[in-house]
Amino acid sequence: MSWQETYKSKIVSPKSAAAKIKSGDRVVTAHACSEPIDVIEAMIANKENYRDVEIVHMVSLGKGEYVKDIMEPYFHHNALFVGGGTRAAVAEGRADYTPCFFYKVPELFREGILPVDVAIIQVSTPDEHGYCSYGLSNDYTKPATECAKLVIAEVNTHMPRTMGDNFIHVSDIDYIVETSNPIIELKAAKIGDVEKIIGENCAKLIEDGSTLQLGIGAIPDAVLLFLKDKKDLGIHSEMISDGVVELVEAGVITNKMKTLHPGKIVVTFLMGSKRLFDFADNNPMISMHSVDYVNNPLVIMQNYKMVCINSCLQVDLMGQVVAESIGLKQFSGVGGQVDFTRGAAMAKGGKSIIAMPSTASKGTRSRIVPLLDEGAAVTTSRNDIHYVVTEYGIAELKGKTLSERGRVLIAIAHPDFRAELTKEWENRFKRKF
Ligand code: COA
Repeated sequence: MSWQETYKSKIVSPKSAAAKIKSGDRVVTAHACSEPIDVIEAMIANKENYRDVEIVHMVSLGKGEYVKDIMEPYFHHNALFVGGGTRAAVAEGRADYTPCFFYKVPELFREGILPVDVAIIQVSTPDEHGYCSYGLSNDYTKPATECAKLVIAEVNTHMPRTMGDNFIHVSDIDYIVETSNPIIELKAAKIGDVEKIIGENCAKLIEDGSTLQLGIGAIPDAVLLFLKDKKDLGIHSEMISDGVVELVEAGVITNKMKTLHPGKIVVTFLMGSKRLFDFADNNPMISMHSVDYVNNPLVIMQNYKMVCINSCLQVDLMGQVVAESIGLKQFSGVGGQVDFTRGAAMAKGGKSIIAMPSTASKGTRSRIVPLLDEGAAVTTSRNDIHYVVTEYGIAELKGKTLSERGRVLIAIAHPDFRAELTKEWENRFKRKF
């Protein structure tokens, strides 16, 4: 049978695809902007026929109807990252969070620790050889698909054909649902004055020829605004968003000086608007690989002058970083923060940076604190962080004693909280500040 005949023989309606899912199955859905739409909707419509279907994913940008309280007998969500759509369900006990470094997530599937019954993915239309591209998300999506007993793929005419180790042959898909849904887009974060100053401070630490990882949100986007005068930057990042496109077009990101994959932007997923999707389509500059490769610290460290910039919710006076919980409440997840912090810290000339506004909750709480909130999970250890950056400056922690760390962190705390922090410092270190 030709691949075209194979393809045709697998086409089903979303309803028939959803009917292949059985009670008790573990269903892994594709990540972020690649989240499938029609099959998930059909699965919700078919709910009465299921009991305890476990839905596993990381960032979800869709409706997340399976986490609503009325869905409790039918679905249970196992979050590998907690986001806006799933936070309440985790807090209210209708969903659970599984802590795991992002680069280790594929291992959970590959080693059968979380066996995958069904993978529901969204891919591009096939090329002349019968290969569909995983498009915007390779990350855990491709590894989960490769381990799944059943693969259901939405083949979307709008899904960009991205390159790298990023393809699936139609013969490896069990059921195909053809769609032309608009791809879910991520709205650009609002960059305020505080984020701009933080971005400018971070940019001071970035030398020409560096390779960058930038997280998601207003701060990474703000950093990009201040890189316009740099030369020959490269990207090796968990994800990129629209801001990177501008710097490629301006000739700032050339990837020429990269010591691993020179000339290529290496990423595991793409999250942004149509501008990014159009840029990525058929673009050989972008090389997409699974997260166990891209985020592996031993791979990241092969990029000389690797600089990673991530954000957090709290930092204590020793430099312990909380990025995923507010007290006991799971707010997000570890994601790739530790993967990149470790990788950058190990790289020749590498720098690991945590950047955050000095306050939270409309200025009423300092993010720099003497002690972390009770129950808070330390995401990144004090041993791995080189720099903490706020709108008040840069605190260099590498090689500093505990008391020196406290001093430099207090110097970049919001002025309203410095007196209180200083008192705590003096009590702890038994000397005058
Ligand atoms: N105490 C109480 N509330 C706090 C707080 C604290 N210490 N710190 C933050 N908050 C509140 C903020 O005020 C804000 O609430 P509001 O919107 O009502 O004002 C909310 O929590 C979110 O904080 P914010 O700093 O705006 O979050 P963000 O969207 O910039 O995300 C992280 C920051 C740390 C959650 C995010 O970067 C993350 O999930 N990191 C971990 C994963 C990671 O680093 N991945 C990297 C590769 S992509």
